Amino acid sequence: MPALLLGDVFPDFQADTTVGQIRFHDFLGDCWGVLFSHPKDYTPVCTTELGRAAKLSAEFTKRNVKLIALSIDSVEDHLGWSKDICAYNNEAPGSCLPFPIIADAKRELAMQLGMLDPDERDSQGMPLTARAVFVIGPDKRLKLSILYPATTGRNFDELLRVIDSLQLTARQRVATPVDWQPGDRVMVLPNVAEEEAAEMFPSGVFVKDLPSGKKYLRYTPQP
Ligand code: BEZ
Repeated sequence: MPALLLGDVFPDFQADTTVGQIRFHDFLGDCWGVLFSHPKDYTPVCTTELGRAAKLSAEFTKRNVKLIALSIDSVEDHLGWSKDICAYNNEAPGSCLPFPIIADAKRELAMQLGMLDPDERDSQGMPLTARAVFVIGPDKRLKLSILYPATTGRNFDELLRVIDSLQLTARQRVATPVDWQPGDRVMVLPNVAEEEAAEMFPSGVFVKDLPSGKKYLRYTPQP
């Protein structure tokens, strides 16, 4: 299958997970979704990542985002590993992860979604999953994808930041500049004419003077 592109409808796969069998689009319902993959259960970096995702789960819920993890092991392994992750987070024994983990022991989804990392292999020489992140909108279309190798853990605060940007730019005709944080000023899109921008952003448009004389660096307070 060709790689998934931004704007493509995300595959409506069926999978076994730690909360039973799901069909992906039904699981998402009207929410945004983040599907994030892991190389293997019972591995150190993955444990810290899932622990961090669990700690931040209320922040994702606040943004109407459902999290779902994936790793190429069985549901039974995932359930055992989940206990270690909760212990890593210093949670009481018996507490559950606030999101499901997909079991992809045959690597079917990993192959379909282009998530295998050929540089990292298990003891049988089989490739492991890379650290993929897919953000899916309520329209079930792919809004963002990032792919890290197994040896580099992700930053889940950055993931919240990009979701804030994706949700803002889905609502308003603006773009967020480098290192943007919610509440910072935003950029007027290049395809918005000067008169239209003045109407669209009544709190003002600031145009930065540049040597080229071109008026493309236009800021406005976050609408
Ligand atoms: C880890 O999660 O620690 C890991 C897994 C596979 C390869 C490298 C690191």
